[in-house]
Amino acid sequence: MTRVAILISGGGSNMVALVESMTDNHPSRPVLVLSNDSDAGGLSKARDLGIETAVVNHRHYPDREAFERAINAQLDAVDADVICLAGFMRILTPVFTDRWAGKVLNIHPSLLPKYPGLNTHARAIEAGDTEAGCTVHIVTSELDDGPILGQARVPVKPDDTPATLAARVLEMEHKLYPAVLHRFVNGDTTPLYLQHDAEAPITPRLS
Ligand code: GAR
Repeated sequence: MTRVAILISGGGSNMVALVESMTDNHPSRPVLVLSNDSDAGGLSKARDLGIETAVVNHRHYPDREAFERAINAQLDAVDADVICLAGFMRILTPVFTDRWAGKVLNIHPSLLPKYPGLNTHARAIEAGDTEAGCTVHIVTSELDDGPILGQARVPVKPDDTPATLAARVLEMEHKLYPAVLHRFVNGDTTPLYLQHDAEAPITPRLS
């Protein structure tokens, strides 16, 4: 059984999607939800789901490296095999990325390599893009870089705001991330590509 830890900073909707997927004959189980922020809404959701939680507050450490050593200790304590970053909003150094090389997945709300960093939806709208989406990739020491394991695309609509586009992308994040994790723990790193349902080809009616 693959032991999965999930790192969050916020509401944790991707974390919930991942946890809910790891049941029955899934080859993994969630063993820890860790946040850098004790106010992260996802922490109470994790507790409600019966998952162990931990907080490592980055403000309590002198530098990124010390913060990450504390995270590594928590992950070692639960014997984590795979780590999913799910809205974890801290830039990571090699203290973390080298320690867990090849074992950390991240979901990012853009079609990487487009728009690494923040404000991805506003940037896609500003650029006049007609499609947007999300990417799951293996984490390396480069921000929002690393081999792509899956992408889901959604249309950008003419009246979209960053908030409406974010909601459409988030819906696909909740499909993509569990699907990619399942493949990854089974040793399949072939990229998975999903399309927003509204874009699915219309099946001709026979009557
Ligand atoms: C998600 O949209 C995720 O892709 C994004 O934060 C949101 C977290 O939502 N992650 C990043 O921007 C990482 N650079 P959630 O807490 O509801 O899962």
